[in-house]
Amino acid sequence: MRASTTSVALGLLTAAANAAPFKTSTVKRQDSGKVVAAHFMIGIMETRSSAADYDEDMKKAKAAGIDAFALNIAKDDYTDAQLNYAYESAANNDMKVFISFDYNYFETGENEAVGAKLKEYCAKPGQLTVDGKCFASSFNGDTDPSKLFNANTIRAAAGTDLYLVPNLSPTGIRDASAVGDIDGSFNWIGWDSNGANRAPTADANVTTSDFDAKYTEWLAGKTYMAPVSPWFFTNFASKAWVFPGDLLWFRRWNEILALAPQMIEIITWNDYGESHYVGSDSATSKHTDDGSSAWTNGFPHDGWLEMAQPYIAAYKAGSKAITVSEDKLVYWYRPTPKAACGAFDGIDTLQDAVFVVALLQSAGTVTVTSGGNTKTFDAPAGASAYQVDMGTGKQTFALSRGGADVFSATGSLEISENCSPVNLNAFVGVAKGNAAVRK
Ligand SMILES: *[C@@H]1O[C@H](CO)[C@@H](O)[C@H](O)[C@H]1NC(C)=O
Repeated sequence: MRASTTSVALGLLTAAANAAPFKTSTVKRQDSGKVVAAHFMIGIMETRSSAADYDEDMKKAKAAGIDAFALNIAKDDYTDAQLNYAYESAANNDMKVFISFDYNYFETGENEAVGAKLKEYCAKPGQLTVDGKCFASSFNGDTDPSKLFNANTIRAAAGTDLYLVPNLSPTGIRDASAVGDIDGSFNWIGWDSNGANRAPTADANVTTSDFDAKYTEWLAGKTYMAPVSPWFFTNFASKAWVFPGDLLWFRRWNEILALAPQMIEIITWNDYGESHYVGSDSATSKHTDDGSSAWTNGFPHDGWLEMAQPYIAAYKAGSKAITVSEDKLVYWYRPTPKAACGAFDGIDTLQDAVFVVALLQSAGTVTVTSGGNTKTFDAPAGASAYQVDMGTGKQTFALSRGGADVFSATGSLEISENCSPVNLNAFVGVAKGNAAVRK
């Protein structure tokens, strides 16, 4: 998303009860049709100049098991050029894409234009279809009366069967009982929160699974597109807070396997501003810099994508447990302890720790050294997570079996006491490799 309004407003507004000229789907989709999408910001792509500029993203996402990019668009003068490049690259790379209209920008009076845009893009070979229908989504669309998503108007203007899964919520200002005009809904809130778009407190704590339950009940069998996000930290002058991250990426994937929703959307592929990117590195991926490079350059997150890969495979197979095909320790940590950063909205919900997820083919011993703190864990086969109190200095992660080293790695970023400017983003790395002792 591009703006800061993700809060869920309470209220009631009766939705226009026009008869829909095109069919909505009422059939619950089967496991075999599970779809993994990833949110992709077109708004930072102004400088891309060809379909080839999107190829690396498409290839990398496809290799991880992602089916489609949700192309988040506003109304910039370069939006259509970039959409065309992205659709063309998707077709060239056997990927799919769909448009996610950002209703912080699209207005109630523009739903016809939204439908007209779909009419144009639905026909392209890169378009994601679900149950044979052109798939589309949104960010927001039910929190501001001047920026309301209207499914019936969009369907009429598109003139083709649509599968609409916008980001409307059970507590939005549309008629909360009106899910008749949509095929499902996308929940953006992938972090525990206070219910008002800030970090939770002991007294106000709405968890990711609380939201899953609300959406699932509200949708009553229609498609639920659940969010999966690793982190959230943003530090613009106009927008500065953090949601609890820590081991969220691990916990949330396990929730997803247990819940098995019809669709999931990874938040995000490349939203550097909010630090929840899992795709390409901000320093090397071609995009315009809105100032977020201050907390993203030098902070790779693609280790999180590697960690997600076996979870994506399990989710698509309808399995509750992952299959590990290579031993890995995926690790992450903030660059500084909290005390060095001072007051920052939500900072109290973070722990001063380094985090490790072990993905193991057989049981092993995980040793983590964070500065002067060393801890050793007996890790079982499969996925398991650990944390160690943060110490300044080097961060080292090692796997051994039967007393013999398998591999170890030291993060290229040391933890320091320098938190100026405040950076609560995570540095993510992966320890793996073929040591001689490995059987
Ligand atoms: C919110 O609830 C979750 C689940 O019980 C818990 O893990 C988390 O620590 C809570 N957060 C706060 C700030 O109390």
